[in-house]
Amino acid sequence: MSLVFDDPEPQIGDENVPAPPAIASRPLAIGSVPIPSRFFLAPMAGFTSLAFRVAVRELGGLGLATTDLVNARSLIENRTRSREIAETNEHDRPVAIQIYGHDPREMIEAAKRVVDLGATIVDINMGCPVRKVVRSGGGSALLCDSGGAARLVEGIVAAVNVPVTVKTRLGWDDESPTAPELARALERVGVAALIVHGRTRAQGFKGRVNRIGIAGVVDAVESMPVIGNGDVRSLADAARMFIESRCAAISIGRGALADPFFFRRLSNWAQTGDPGPEPTFDERVNVMERCFRGLVELRGEKIACLQFRKLIKWYYHFTHMPKPIYLSMINMANVATFDRALVSIRAAGPSRPLVSGSKLHVPVPSGPIDKW
Ligand SMILES: Cc1cc2nc3c(=O)[nH]c(=O)nc-3n(C[C@H](O)[C@H](O)[C@H](O)COP(=O)(O)O)c2cc1C
Repeated sequence: MSLVFDDPEPQIGDENVPAPPAIASRPLAIGSVPIPSRFFLAPMAGFTSLAFRVAVRELGGLGLATTDLVNARSLIENRTRSREIAETNEHDRPVAIQIYGHDPREMIEAAKRVVDLGATIVDINMGCPVRKVVRSGGGSALLCDSGGAARLVEGIVAAVNVPVTVKTRLGWDDESPTAPELARALERVGVAALIVHGRTRAQGFKGRVNRIGIAGVVDAVESMPVIGNGDVRSLADAARMFIESRCAAISIGRGALADPFFFRRLSNWAQTGDPGPEPTFDERVNVMERCFRGLVELRGEKIACLQFRKLIKWYYHFTHMPKPIYLSMINMANVATFDRALVSIRAAGPSRPLVSGSKLHVPVPSGPIDKW
């Protein structure tokens, strides 16, 4: 059977609230770590900063967050950018710090380093399709060598006293559905959970997520929790992911960028069947402010403004702030510009009726995968 699902999936909005599957509200632990909900924030390089993670946690409902991927060697060399990516604090718990690389000694060293930095869990990237990562033998290159991948991880499991998880894809391409074999090998060496993005490496972000492929991984393991990932944007998507893949929990990437309140709604839904109301305009503006102030605190005015410019488009779509105010922020270089814009946004209110975050488009890398 092909791993690649290309036909469009019927979109079901949150106006039709499905019944939550029983598993959605059951307690969960990864290794010895209790995880407060079965909805996780997936790593997204450039977006899942400490400021974003803390802002999302404050809204409620988040089980586990993972940092952007960080290169093992750069971490050992104590490079500034790597230190920033791996940064966490007491408000950011439980957190998995994600490392990538292929050299066993470097990976062990980096894993110990992230535990010292506060990681609740060490996560290893075996799914990233980006050329720079794959060329060095890391990321999804490890999908092609289950034995080597398991040996690499075995050393890390033995070296740290926190759970070790792995994030991967269904396989390298449609001809090599290696994830079930990899999952078995990883479970044997003590991996505490496996997060599976239901696409192949060759697919990038094309086609739609293959939840049945994830179910194949669930069937391959004995008791290791398998976390389903891919295209979960609405309650209906979450219900389908639980039911069709039989995953233990769901990891959400783009859906959280489009709507940081998604975890709160998912968790309410899992507990009571009712997701509660969509976030108000004020709540949406407040989370934007929280995220910006968090970045300023962590990175200082200049870098915070640069990093926030990348995010401002989401908030434009999410809040429906008037376009001229949005345009006044896209090149902002200081806090004063943000403060002025914020006063205007609050005074103006939304320029159109607000929509559910599940309806907002989030662009992803495209073009030939070998050029990423
Ligand atoms: C901009 C962007 C950056 C990403 N960076 C990472 C990363 O650093 N590590 C990783 O394991 N996956 C990364 N991913 C993949 C996501 O974690 C996730 O597997 C993928 O987006 C599918 O889930 P979604 O449909 O919920 O977004 C990234 C995805 C995007 C869109």
